[in-house]
Amino acid sequence: MIASDVKATLSFSDGSPSMELPLYKGTIGPDVIDIRKLYAQTGKFTYDPGFLSTASCNSTITYIDGDKGELRYRGYPIDQLATQCDFLETCYLLLKGELPNPQQKKDFDRLVSTHTMVNEQMQFFLRGFRRDAHPMAVMTGLVGALSAFYHDSTDITNPVHRDISAIRLIAKMPTLVAMAYKYGIGQPYIYPQNKLSYSANFMRMMFGTPCEDYEPNDVLVRAMDRIFILHADHEQNASTSTVRLCGSSGTNPFAAIAAGVACLWGPAHGGANEAALNMLEEIQRNGGVEKIGEFIKNVKDKNSNVKLMGFGHRVYKNYDPRAKLMRETCHEVLQATGLHDDPLFKLAMALEKIALEDDYFVSRKLYPNVDFYSGIVQRAIGIPVSLFTAVFALARTVGWIAQLNEMIGDPEYKIGRPRQLFVGAPHRDVLPITQR
Ligand code: CMC
Repeated sequence: MIASDVKATLSFSDGSPSMELPLYKGTIGPDVIDIRKLYAQTGKFTYDPGFLSTASCNSTITYIDGDKGELRYRGYPIDQLATQCDFLETCYLLLKGELPNPQQKKDFDRLVSTHTMVNEQMQFFLRGFRRDAHPMAVMTGLVGALSAFYHDSTDITNPVHRDISAIRLIAKMPTLVAMAYKYGIGQPYIYPQNKLSYSANFMRMMFGTPCEDYEPNDVLVRAMDRIFILHADHEQNASTSTVRLCGSSGTNPFAAIAAGVACLWGPAHGGANEAALNMLEEIQRNGGVEKIGEFIKNVKDKNSNVKLMGFGHRVYKNYDPRAKLMRETCHEVLQATGLHDDPLFKLAMALEKIALEDDYFVSRKLYPNVDFYSGIVQRAIGIPVSLFTAVFALARTVGWIAQLNEMIGDPEYKIGRPRQLFVGAPHRDVLPITQR
């Protein structure tokens, strides 16, 4: 953070003394006005529900230029990472700030692969769930439960503990997601196979059975890996801010990540991939491409409460760069699986085209986001719709940990504690129950 020569002056129309506020410059992106002393000096808070204009922290990890539609991890554009690196290289970058050299990559891959197994007790814990439980309900429980299984890495103030829990979380998430899936369909769990790549191992645990060898398809493995890279981090989104706020109390890292999983589940956030695919399937059932006009009319009707899922973003006011890469991956995967005539993909492209020409979407700068196409890719890979958000959680785990560790390591870090504008009854006396 560099202090700017420019200062902001806050003045009041009632003649109260004005206040000078410092401005800071980042390396890129909007400047921020430092309001930390505002309350002490004026007795007033700022009001910004939904954080529309509030930077909650400073960070070196991920940068988004929403107007241009750009996303960078540690300065590297997402399209370069998605086409030239694998997911574990991306994890290394997010956690450590630099891309690994060949030896560092080998050591990191090896380290992660030696932590893929979960405590055998975990499967008995899983058994407490109904078989038809939503995978995100199961994942919230399983990730939270890790703190009960790995007692030696739960001290958030200890950098060694933070490193071990980071590796454990990245390594065990695929195992846990695959276990949640297998439990739901009543198949035996498949243990991790550490000679496989991160993504191939995940697919084998998902789709293998003890009866037959599983041969991962290279195109699908690459697509899976790309989904992980594209979802790995996204600066201070709702779930990441949840992880930071939760972790700011000093709670253990597994509990903080479980809070992130819970937040991600919502349809306005990570749950949008599931909601987008359900939406496409419903339009398809009701007549497909022919019915797009009617559907869009419904979306535009404020009273309908229907949204075009997978469209719009708080930060992107341009095409989400992840959606572009996901659409390319969609083509590749559908070719590889012989689904190139997939009606849902055709429907999605037709819907996108019509929406991008419609004044409602154009004037509000609503473009496809990552979730518009990721569901179609995941479905073609064989992942059931209800598991989509769990796959997102798997990928985002590294971002959550990198952000959490950055916060804990920041000398300026304090417990997060927003203030409020109270608009309820100022004071009331309790009447005896017979007089109420
Ligand atoms: N369909 C129809 N109208 C929309 C949509 C949409 N998908 N998104 C925004 N709008 C309208 C909204 O009604 C509002 O219109 P008006 O100005 O007339 O009231 C305007 O566009 C601005 O929207 P907003 O709700 O103020 O924007 P926001 O920044 O609060 O919400 C969002 C962002 C992502 C929650 C929202 O665009 C949305 O609900 N999209 C659908 C869900 C979705 O795809 N979420 C995934 C986000 S990307 C992955 C992730 O980060 O998890």
